[in-house]
Amino acid sequence: MTHSTGEYTPPPEQVLRTLDVETHLSDPSIKQAFVTPMFDVIAPRYDRFTRLFSFGMDGSWKREAMDAVREAARRIRPVQRALDLATGTGDLAVALARLWPGVQVDALDASPRMIDQARARLARRDPDVMTAVHPMVGDMMALPQDNASVDVVTASYAVRNVPDARGAIREMARVLRPDGVLVTLDFYRPAFAPWRVLFLGYLQIAGDMVGYLWHRDPVVYGYIARSISHFMTAAEFTALLVEEGFEVVSVQQHLFGGIARHVARRR
Ligand SMILES: C[S@@+](CC[C@H](N)C(=O)[O-])C[C@H]1O[C@@H](n2cnc3c(N)ncnc32)[C@H](O)[C@@H]1O
Repeated sequence: MTHSTGEYTPPPEQVLRTLDVETHLSDPSIKQAFVTPMFDVIAPRYDRFTRLFSFGMDGSWKREAMDAVREAARRIRPVQRALDLATGTGDLAVALARLWPGVQVDALDASPRMIDQARARLARRDPDVMTAVHPMVGDMMALPQDNASVDVVTASYAVRNVPDARGAIREMARVLRPDGVLVTLDFYRPAFAPWRVLFLGYLQIAGDMVGYLWHRDPVVYGYIARSISHFMTAAEFTALLVEEGFEVVSVQQHLFGGIARHVARRR
């Protein structure tokens, strides 16, 4: 790939082949250098993979998350600005645009190819959704939004992927207005050790198989289990939210703590 400057940038598939997943997940200073090309590589198949891998449960977890957003944001009238972090192909951004007429939804992701997919999906939506959602390439640890400028933030399968979870939560707190709503959905390290071994074992084997079949590279989906084993428990995430200025309104766990949805309010 050659840019207008004439500088050669290797395609993400090539970059990924040279990187070791464990080394990059263990070192926050180089984690993003692995994560962004990996999501670039899987972007065209991301939606299909997510449905398959979660046996369709992803859709119901996201619907529940949107119900929680609607409920928690009742106090904010009108909701004018929402932000979906690590938007991927834009599932939650589109759902946010449908919740409140006239809302502006920023849909931010670090992977340019994910943002391309989100744009392509939006082009097939109705005009109201298309004009409400603004896809943008960006880093959720250094957001472009102003302080206290956003009413609602959503982040699904987002914080686990960044090198600095605390830094990302701090940014969410910075851009949210007081009383603003945060809803997150993610995989967590189950606290109960025997279940953790089974859960991560399944994700590792299934991920490696699909990665090999679709990309001839087990690393791209085997990453999920590895990233969870480096991440925190749902209870530790709750504590982090409180430390960074949120009141935690509810925590809903699925799969015995392997998945959790947090609803929080900016203090
Ligand atoms: C598992 S996907 C989740 C996509 C979407 N939220 C969903 O629920 O389907 C994780 C996303 O996080 C994005 N990501 C990783 N690091 C990021 C960062 N520092 N800032 C913003 N997005 C990031 C990836 O590019 C990827 O699209």
